[in-house]
Amino acid sequence: MRIAAPELNPEQTYKLMSGIVVPRPIAWITTLGPAGKVNLAPFSCFTFVSNTPPMLGINIGRKAGRRKDTANNILEHGHFVVNIGNASLLDAIHASAEEHPPEVSEAEVLQLAVLPGESVATPRLAAAPVSLECTLHSVIPFGETGAEFFVGEVKLFHIRDGLARDGKIDTLALDPVCRIAGPNYALLGPLVTKQALRQTPKSVMGKDPA
Ligand SMILES: Cc1cc2nc3c(=O)[nH]c(=O)nc-3n(C[C@H](O)[C@H](O)[C@H](O)COP(=O)(O)O)c2cc1C
Repeated sequence: MRIAAPELNPEQTYKLMSGIVVPRPIAWITTLGPAGKVNLAPFSCFTFVSNTPPMLGINIGRKAGRRKDTANNILEHGHFVVNIGNASLLDAIHASAEEHPPEVSEAEVLQLAVLPGESVATPRLAAAPVSLECTLHSVIPFGETGAEFFVGEVKLFHIRDGLARDGKIDTLALDPVCRIAGPNYALLGPLVTKQALRQTPKSVMGKDPA
């Protein structure tokens, strides 16, 4: 089968792309909404884009041409928290995508406790095994639907005790969830470990590697 991309409408393209770019990790984002309410929503167009400083990116689409609450809140305050959920939180991750007015906190609706932010004013989810406190770095618009790629700089990593050893995350202990096409998710399957390959050390541009 061959499909000419220009013949697809936005819904058709979304269906194809979200089934092809799989599995996707989920950024479960808290932001500060009106009157300090904590907005919560999941976003799976999510990756990291830099090591030094650590930066990550999330693509946020629009609802009938209007920015989603998460995008509005990030633009207003300049900070947000990417929480990483695990399998035990999957029902809440999914339910937090339900559309509520900006003044309604999905964290409150779902009875998820929050903890104060430390490097930013946005609170994080107490139940999340990992939370990344971020400041907004840049926003890059893409395409014709008004989608925007929000890049954040990670200021503080919160990692639950026991999840990291020698600076590495224990993936099985994290028990992450990912999004595939439609309202479908996948959990971690069997791990496959290969011989580590020698890689040139990462360095900061203009400086010799340590
Ligand atoms: C698992 C999951 C992943 C999602 N990923 C994205 C995404 O990457 N980009 C996006 O714009 N919406 C995504 N959505 C939809 C938003 O979560 C949804 O529009 C939500 O209502 C936005 O909330 P807000 O208006 O409070 O920001 C996703 C939904 C689910 C359930």
